[in-house]
Amino acid sequence: MNKLYKTAVVTGISSGIGLALTQKLLNENYNVIGTTRSGSLDDFSHSNLKIVPLEATSQESRDNAVNAILAITESIDLLVNNAGIAPDVFSIEPDFESFTATINTNVTSVIFFTELLLKHIKTGGKIAFISSSMGLLKNAAPNGTAYRLSKNAINMYAAMLASRVIDRQIIVTPIHPGWVQTKLGGNQAPFTTKDSADGIYDAILSNTNSGKFWDITIPGLD
Ligand SMILES: NC(=O)c1ccc[n+]([C@@H]2O[C@H](COP(=O)([O-])OP(=O)(O)OC[C@H]3O[C@@H](n4cnc5c(N)ncnc54)[C@H](OP(=O)(O)O)[C@@H]3O)[C@@H](O)[C@H]2O)c1
Repeated sequence: MNKLYKTAVVTGISSGIGLALTQKLLNENYNVIGTTRSGSLDDFSHSNLKIVPLEATSQESRDNAVNAILAITESIDLLVNNAGIAPDVFSIEPDFESFTATINTNVTSVIFFTELLLKHIKTGGKIAFISSSMGLLKNAAPNGTAYRLSKNAINMYAAMLASRVIDRQIIVTPIHPGWVQTKLGGNQAPFTTKDSADGIYDAILSNTNSGKFWDITIPGLD
């Protein structure tokens, strides 16, 4: 880790958008503390990257991850809440197991992980949530009950958080990362993970309207 660089924490970097964003941030001279469930990362390493284990749905794992992060850095410039699941996007009828898993992973875990790190985010720092335009009311549709609700909830939390941290000049941005070629997004998606990571990075840097939803496919609009 380079003492002169800013430090970012990114959750869920084992694949997809989280991994591409980690690579983007490293290229932009950030130190990155990335989380994976296993605590390791196959096929990629970097001198400014540290991996911390996190099973986001476990309170004990969240506590341990935060202790491990704070043993690496005293303060954080950027927190990106990226880890998420979408098991019900092709289902019309809500399924209890998928529903509770999605809300637990995409909402409860994200909120309580963020709350643990909140006081360690620097004044003038940034918090991003990888959300989805599927969570916007204007995009209501019959499929993906839990996924849409989870992203809608995290957009609301982001807007609420923005007003809580305004005195510390922390900018909060819930971001739609595009429809992206990942395990979650599938092969038909038009965006590569690199396209998405570049757009997310621009959104994090450009947003001055804390709490506002940012769609990287329509910059500056919601
Ligand atoms: N791809 C798209 O088109 C798209 C569109 C809109 C929004 N998003 C959002 O983008 C984010 C990243 O998704 P992705 O497309 O990059 O999918 P992905 O490749 O499946 O990545 C999801 C990441 O989240 C991690 N994760 C899932 N459940 C977890 C848990 N309980 N604890 C810790 N980590 C967990 C996964 O870890 P494992 O590898 O261990 O499962 C993986 O690292 C998600 O929040 C998703 O909702 C994606």
